[in-house]
Amino acid sequence: MDLFFEIHKDIPREGPGENASTKQALLMLKDLPSEPNILDIGCGPGMQTIELAKNTNGRIIALDNHKPFLDLLKGRAVEEDVLEKIKTKEGSMFSLEFEKNSFDLLWSEGAIFIIGFSRGIKEWREYIRIGGYLVVSEISWLRQDIPQEARTFWESDYPEIKGIDHNMKIIEESGYSPVGNFVLPKSGWWNDYYNPLIERIKVLREKYDGNKEANDIMDNTEREIEIYKKYSDYYGYVFYLMKKI
Ligand SMILES: C[S@@+](CC[C@H](N)C(=O)[O-])C[C@H]1O[C@@H](n2cnc3c(N)ncnc32)[C@H](O)[C@@H]1O
Repeated sequence: MDLFFEIHKDIPREGPGENASTKQALLMLKDLPSEPNILDIGCGPGMQTIELAKNTNGRIIALDNHKPFLDLLKGRAVEEDVLEKIKTKEGSMFSLEFEKNSFDLLWSEGAIFIIGFSRGIKEWREYIRIGGYLVVSEISWLRQDIPQEARTFWESDYPEIKGIDHNMKIIEESGYSPVGNFVLPKSGWWNDYYNPLIERIKVLREKYDGNKEANDIMDNTEREIEIYKKYSDYYGYVFYLMKKI
C-alpha cells in the first residue's frame, strides 16, 4: 500500500479528469444558487475542488480518507488563492457525517467506483436538498462491441462497469431527473494522470530494481495504461449530471 502511494504521490490528480470538463459540467447546472454549498467526495489532491472554487462563490467541503491528499489540496488552494472557499475533511464516503438535505451540490470525480455507482447514487442522495444536484464521473463502456481483452481486464478490476444507458436508468430509478452526460476527452486520461504516472514509474523502476512486490504493482499500472492505449474508443470516463427530485 505504501508503494501504491509512492507511485501516486504528488501527481496532479488521482484519476482521469481535466479542468475543462469540470467547468463544462458545472456550467450545465442551470439552477445552482449564487453561493452553493458543495461537497466534493473522494477529492484526492483536489484539482477539481480548486476548479470548482474558482468558478463558484460557494463553500466547498473536500472529503477524502487519505490525509496526505488533503494536505496537498490545502497547499494548492493557498497557491491558487481559493483556500477561504474550501474546508477539508478526513472521512469516509461510506458513512457521510453531514446534515441530511443540506447540500446544493454533491460532486465526485473518479471516486464513486469505490462505493459502487448504484450504491453511491442512492446513499448520497439523502445529503442533497430537493432540487440540488449530483455530478459524478464514472468509467463506462462507450459501445456495445467491447473486445474481450478489455472486457476481461475491467470486469475483473471493476465488475460494476456498465454502459451509459444502464447508468442513466439507475439514475432515473433512484429519485433523480437526469440533467445530461458527456464523455471525458482522452486528454483527460493522459495529461494530468497517465503521463505523470509513466514518468514516476520510470524513476521508481530504478529505485526498486529487484523488488518483486514493487515491480508487480508497477506492472499492474502499466498494464492498465496499455489497455487504455489499445481500447480507448471502447470505454471512458463519463460525467453524469442529475437533479434530486
Ligand atoms: C481515483 S481517486 C480520485 C481523486 C480525485 N477526485 C481526482 O479526480 O483526482 C479516488 C479518491 O478517493 C479516496 N478514497 C478512497 N476510499 C475512500 C473512502 N472510503 N472515503 C473517502 N475517500 C476515499 C482516495 O484517497 C482518492 O483520493
